[in-house]
Amino acid sequence: MQPSELLQTIFSQKAVKTPTGEVLPLHSSIDPAEGSFLRTLISQYQPENTLEIGCAYGLSSLYICDGLQKNKIKLQQEGGNYNPKHYIIDPYQKTQWQGVGIHQLQTCGIDFFHLIEKPSELALPELLAQGKQFDFVFIDGWHTLDHTLLDLFYANQLLKVGGVVVVDDVLTIKPVNKAVRYFLNYPAYQFIGKAPYKHSLKRQVYYTVTEFFALLTYLIPLRKKIFNPYWLQSDRNLQVDSPMVAMEKIATDQRSWNWYEEF
Ligand SMILES: C[S@@+](CC[C@H](N)C(=O)[O-])C[C@H]1O[C@@H](n2cnc3c(N)ncnc32)[C@H](O)[C@@H]1O
Repeated sequence: MQPSELLQTIFSQKAVKTPTGEVLPLHSSIDPAEGSFLRTLISQYQPENTLEIGCAYGLSSLYICDGLQKNKIKLQQEGGNYNPKHYIIDPYQKTQWQGVGIHQLQTCGIDFFHLIEKPSELALPELLAQGKQFDFVFIDGWHTLDHTLLDLFYANQLLKVGGVVVVDDVLTIKPVNKAVRYFLNYPAYQFIGKAPYKHSLKRQVYYTVTEFFALLTYLIPLRKKIFNPYWLQSDRNLQVDSPMVAMEKIATDQRSWNWYEEF
């Protein structure tokens, strides 16, 4: 079965199947718009070594691996040498998620993934110590601020220049939003895209009011010390007004030991 076919079935039935055939309701997954965004990035950037933190029922894994498989067919037809390898970190894949994520990949004949069943705080430093480098990192694991910052810290260490890091739940989960606002200040990274999202009128008005307020604060000395960063730069202004945000590593990270920017 093709991953796109399986994804269509899962989204239409709002359910997944365990390896023993039990049907479970779908939850905690990315949606089709976010999945298409991920797959488009994979097609545009053609990463060979990819890493994913947080697999659950394997929806993001299916989109990423679908993109990698399509690249493989295309590039090999053109005579290129492209052998993707997808690393997945999830401590609870075979327990809480009953192995569904991995089972979905196997159902689609995908054999170029490697599951690490450890929490990211243990798995990521191990990958770094092994000298692994990645072209693409997707973060959708434990969503506290410290944990997301830790995932981003290691993503930065593990990403090659020219590589891409994508974070999920940027709009809806405050600590993830905070972590990405901080990370976007890194001089070595630039925003490259976000999943499409339609805001309510109320939210659009909120963004417009804060952006107008931010303009007024330029007249005030020490504005950054006085005002909440959300009032000085709206999420829309920073391009983090979407559930999923992608950033490219455009240079080596050369921040000094005491580098800091308000976020
Ligand atoms: C929101 S779900 C991921 C959804 C998945 N990306 C998808 O689109 O279907 C979060 C995942 O993070 C995993 N997780 C929880 N704690 C973790 C940790 N410390 N390190 C890595 N992953 C963790 C959970 O087991 C769960 O699978």
